[in-house]
Amino acid sequence: MMQDELKQLVAREALTYVRGGIVGVGSGSTVNFFIDALATIKGRIDGAVAASEASAARLRKHGIEVLELNDVSEVPVYVDGADEITERLYMIKGGGGALTREKVVAAVAQKFVCICDASKLVPVLGKFPLPVEVIPMARSHVGRELARRGAEPELRLNYKTDNGNLILDCRGLSIVDPPALESELNQIAGVVTNGIFARRPADVLLLATAEGVRTLGPLPL
Ligand code: 5RP
Repeated sequence: MMQDELKQLVAREALTYVRGGIVGVGSGSTVNFFIDALATIKGRIDGAVAASEASAARLRKHGIEVLELNDVSEVPVYVDGADEITERLYMIKGGGGALTREKVVAAVAQKFVCICDASKLVPVLGKFPLPVEVIPMARSHVGRELARRGAEPELRLNYKTDNGNLILDCRGLSIVDPPALESELNQIAGVVTNGIFARRPADVLLLATAEGVRTLGPLPL
C-alpha cells in the first residue's frame, strides 16, 4: 500500500471514535484525509474546532461548521497526526507548524486519537527535528538556550505560525525523558510551546500498517 492509502485507511478508522458533538481536528496530511472522511458523516456532528487555519478552511469547504475553542465547553474527541510517536504514546508534533494550537485543543479534549502510518512509530523521540515556537524577539536567546542543552536549532525559513511566531527546528536531541524535557523547554523565556506532547500524550494510537490498522493504548508506566 502507498503511504497516502495508509493515511486514508487510518483516517477512516478514526471515524469510529466520533460520537457526535464537537470534533477536535488537528492538522497535516493525515488529518486532511480525516477531514474528508468526517465530511461523509457531517450530519451526525455539531461542528468542529480546528488546530490550524488550513484545517479550518478545509472543514468549511466541506460545509462543516468551525467553532472557536473559546465558545465550546467540551471536545469529546480530538483527532490528530504526529511526526513521531512512541509506544507510550508520547509524540513529537509540529512538523506543519501548528503545535501550539494542537496542544491547546489536545488539552481540552477528553480523548486524543492519534492517526499515523507505521513509519511514525519510534523507540525514542528525537530523530525528527523538534519544533519549538518562539516569539520573534526571543529567537536568538531561545536558540542559545537550546544549543546549551545539546540541540542544533535552525530557524524555519520564510515561515510564520498562525500565531505570528517563529519556529526553531532542533536536531541532535535524544529525548529519553519526554515529559521532563517538555517542561524544561517550556520554561525558557520566549518559548511559546515545544513540540513534545508527553504531559498530555495521546490516549489511543491508530497505526496504519500494510496488514491493516493496529490500535494501541499507552503502555503502563
Ligand atoms: C502539524 C503536526 C502534524 O500532525 C504532523 O506534522 C504530522 O503530519 P502528517 O500527517 O502530514 O505527516 O503536528 O503541526
